[in-house]
Amino acid sequence: MTGSTTLRAAGWRDLAAMARLERRCFPADAWSAATFWSELAGRPTRSYWVLTGPAAGGSDGPAEDEQILGYAGMSSDGETADVMTLAVGPETRGHGWGSRLLERLHDHARDSGAGAMMLEVRADNPAARHLYAAAGYEQVNVRRGYYRSSDGGSAVDALVLRKELSLP
Ligand SMILES: CC(C)(COP(=O)(O)OP(=O)(O)OC[C@H]1O[C@@H](n2cnc3c(N)ncnc32)[C@H](O)[C@@H]1OP(=O)(O)O)[C@@H](O)C(=O)NCCC(=O)NCCS
Repeated sequence: MTGSTTLRAAGWRDLAAMARLERRCFPADAWSAATFWSELAGRPTRSYWVLTGPAAGGSDGPAEDEQILGYAGMSSDGETADVMTLAVGPETRGHGWGSRLLERLHDHARDSGAGAMMLEVRADNPAARHLYAAAGYEQVNVRRGYYRSSDGGSAVDALVLRKELSLP
């Protein structure tokens, strides 16, 4: 990805493109546009960022010359903040942007006074598990059968992960 890829706070005009990317990134359990709307309405305890890049052959973003390549959101209203969602579009993966989005959430959580970050990840999602392990998250709990299966099979466990924000 080129240097024109940037991270900025998400706004109302980004919602439709975020919801479209969500359906590609989470085919089994995508959030609706209404869910994104209520998340943004939860600001300032909810905070969302979008990764944007130049539109390549037709815009899928809020502006003619821009497209949404990824996004991340969190909740912060106490000692422990929570990752609500994080996704990078298939074409943009493997270039460190998932890690950059996660670092942005960590920075904001620290600025909000949180000492730890928590999240839930599907047990059958090796890419996300690797991302979080590389960022220093440790498993603290399992929610058995928390997620719908993507292929009609058995429900999938949620792994509950935690990172102390004072640690690198
Ligand atoms: C998970 C996701 C955000 C990773 O985004 P990304 O931009 O490719 O991640 P990065 O390039 O920053 O990689 C971060 C780490 O994860 C590893 N990783 C990324 N994809 C991987 C894969 N498919 N398998 C194994 N490891 C993977 C990278 O090697 C890197 O590890 P390293 O720091 O040890 O080298 C992306 O795959 C995605 O959006 N998936 C669909 C949505 C999703 O599952 N979101 C998480 C919900 S909890």
